[in-house]
Amino acid sequence: MTQRPVILSGIQPSGRLTIGHYTGALRNWVALQQSHQCYFMVADLHAITVRQDPAELRQRTLETVALFLACGIDPTQSVLFVQSHVPEHTQLAWVLSCWTSMGECSRMTQFKEKSAQHRHLVNVGLFAYPILMAADILLYQADLVPVGADQKQHLELTRNLAERFNHHYGPTFRVPEPYIPPVGAKIMSLQDPTKKMSKSDPNENAILFLTDPPDAIRRKIRRAITDSGREVRYDEQQRPGLSNLMVLYHIATGKSIPEIEREFEGAGYADLKAALTEALIEFLRPIREEYERLQNATDYLMSILAQGAEKARTRAHQTLQLVYERIGLLLAPWESVSTPTANTHHADL
Ligand code: TRP
Repeated sequence: MTQRPVILSGIQPSGRLTIGHYTGALRNWVALQQSHQCYFMVADLHAITVRQDPAELRQRTLETVALFLACGIDPTQSVLFVQSHVPEHTQLAWVLSCWTSMGECSRMTQFKEKSAQHRHLVNVGLFAYPILMAADILLYQADLVPVGADQKQHLELTRNLAERFNHHYGPTFRVPEPYIPPVGAKIMSLQDPTKKMSKSDPNENAILFLTDPPDAIRRKIRRAITDSGREVRYDEQQRPGLSNLMVLYHIATGKSIPEIEREFEGAGYADLKAALTEALIEFLRPIREEYERLQNATDYLMSILAQGAEKARTRAHQTLQLVYERIGLLLAPWESVSTPTANTHHADL
């Protein structure tokens, strides 16, 4: 039996998803789901490392699921689930935390940045965040993990933990490879094109949400910062604002940057903005419409999540039992005898 390589990835439900999530993650996920066995999750446990409003978190979690589907994640191909529905994530995270040094966690760039940002609440969860992420990945014996460049360090830690554990206890975890998508265009803030577009930017005009209706798109593009100059020529260094709009036009139309330069020869920024507005409206329309339809179909979304959690748990549970066995925890009386034994290699999972 040939098995498809396994992929795991996740997005935190800590804000509304932006066009950057589409180009950086969802678009690639959709492209990978036929050739790979994919596990895609909403990382709600990661989101609570910073304060969340409970009602809002619940709503965002379901919204994120609806957007995964609206962007083309196919629940008959891929396993779509919510992290907290699979308790094995936190269970394995505890075991792994006993194999991670304080130093390793303190060296994480994201921890350093976030703890500087949330000075009043540098909690242990924020510190241990990469360990939970390692658990997410190792539970599924993932071969590949599509992540943005900012998560590469966490993946490196995951690999180290897997190797450390395997070295000590024998082959238990598959050691995952990062999958950094082929130079996906990085989308910058519409208000400060030297910063990455972020779903948590307090200025909404800086962000294009996947669910933005046409009038919001019109307003945001109209107000988008451009640089001085007139011709539409790509120059990330000298004209970051204009270049960002060109990247967005490329995403919405599929046209290459040289094609876009040719299209706007002799025309100005205003012409680009007008064409971009229309292109974005059409590009985002099907996603928004499908999202709105799904928003009213909570039962359907919940049934997808129930199936997803069940499939995810089957695999996660096998790995966790193997880990428990390896480290010498007494097999719980209700666990079946067919649980993997110390002779089981991770490749059998
Ligand atoms: N930490 C990731 C982010 O903020 C989200 C995430 C959580 C994740 N668990 C994961 C990504 C496992 C890939 C694999 O982007």
